[in-house]
Amino acid sequence: MKFTVVTILPELVEPALAAGVVGRAREAGTIAVGTVNPRDFTSDRHRTVDDTPYGGGPGMVMKAEPLLAAIAAAVGVEPAHRILLTPAGRPLTQARVRELAAAHRHLVLVCGRYEGVDERVIEHAIDEELSIGDYVLSGGELGALVVIDAVARLVPGVLGEPASADEESHSAGLLEYPQYTRPPKLVLAVAGDESVPDASLSGVVREVPPVLFGGNHAAIASWRRRQSIERTARRRPDMFARFAPAKADRKLVTPLHARTHLALVHHPVHDRTGAVVTTSLTNFDIHDLARSSLTYGLAAYHIVTPITSQREKAEHIARLWLDDTPARPPPSSGSRANALALVRTADSIETVVAELTAQYGRPPRIVATSARTTSFPGAARCTPEELRAAATVAGLGEERPEPLLLLLGTGWGLADDRIPNVAYLLSPIEGTADWNHLSVRSAAAILLDRLFGRASG
Ligand code: ADE
Repeated sequence: MKFTVVTILPELVEPALAAGVVGRAREAGTIAVGTVNPRDFTSDRHRTVDDTPYGGGPGMVMKAEPLLAAIAAAVGVEPAHRILLTPAGRPLTQARVRELAAAHRHLVLVCGRYEGVDERVIEHAIDEELSIGDYVLSGGELGALVVIDAVARLVPGVLGEPASADEESHSAGLLEYPQYTRPPKLVLAVAGDESVPDASLSGVVREVPPVLFGGNHAAIASWRRRQSIERTARRRPDMFARFAPAKADRKLVTPLHARTHLALVHHPVHDRTGAVVTTSLTNFDIHDLARSSLTYGLAAYHIVTPITSQREKAEHIARLWLDDTPARPPPSSGSRANALALVRTADSIETVVAELTAQYGRPPRIVATSARTTSFPGAARCTPEELRAAATVAGLGEERPEPLLLLLGTGWGLADDRIPNVAYLLSPIEGTADWNHLSVRSAAAILLDRLFGRASG
């Protein structure tokens, strides 16, 4: 694999390419790296490579002619893939790195400087624009080094053990597990500890996790997998949302949807004046939320109302379907009867909590929803992605992980000061208008899709 960096600062990139994995690979001839300087393709005394932007504005723009000539020289006669490093490019990912390593034998990495590059260069001499992150550097040189390092590691013969590239963060959609080496017990010295009279402060002992000793390879693999999953969920909920547990993960990761209970709350809720009221049951809600609950694999759907006749009505309607068309056993994907079989009724949220506590042997983690960001001031704010990550981590490796109770308010929303122990408030669904009055059925479907929909994981 050959890399050619087009840069007006070869002195910035060359030292970095002489050391480490890349330096050794160059020495061994596994990769070749060179630089081409656009200043060598100027004809004026000052070797000018930039000029002021048409239309005004701050900074300077890299001129087209020297850059086009430098890119042509860098490409040479063999085909090459030309990449411009720019904060306006597509974010570089490990997947793209893998493709670059597999698809090309020569990468020409063009480093922008100043305010940018004359757009005509990009139109005529660039195949792809890449960014190494959402921040602005003074030029593309560091980005070019990042691309070279990431791609070179995947070139056969560059790494001693190819597996070490595979196992690392991002390759498998998870961050890497923590690593340890000798000594098994590390005594941390505290800076200036002679001045600390309390001996207990002079050093802290940090031990290597015992599972890593003793050579039980299955136990080590399982510990590492768990660490990777946990780290990814905590640090990168966005990445975790795309993580699909493998078969072997099933013991470790219990699917969150299967321990999630939806509660449609008719009391205590607000009316339009802010008073706490009891709303009446809506027939549509029985069916539609039951169908959404089955579609997203929830454990149950609880209709909460203190009015006995309304609970009886809900149970009656659900039973009608069950009597007509019995719920189909797995592996059938279900029927409307399977959806209505998820319906349970309760006179209060407290009753649902008590039932789940009895069923799971521990109380549920309660999650509220609201159209207002100011509701439930004591609850942690979270997006569906963050909730999914946090609740999955809480259940990792647990034989009986805690259930999740998702509260949906009717009327003008849940009466937050009457509902204790709410751990999380999900961020409201925002449309584009100032008016924000989705039906509870629509809101539930959107939230369930954001939490559990396949598109998000
Ligand atoms: N040049 C300046 N900032 C950059 C970034 N974030 N990625 C790639 N090239 C850049």
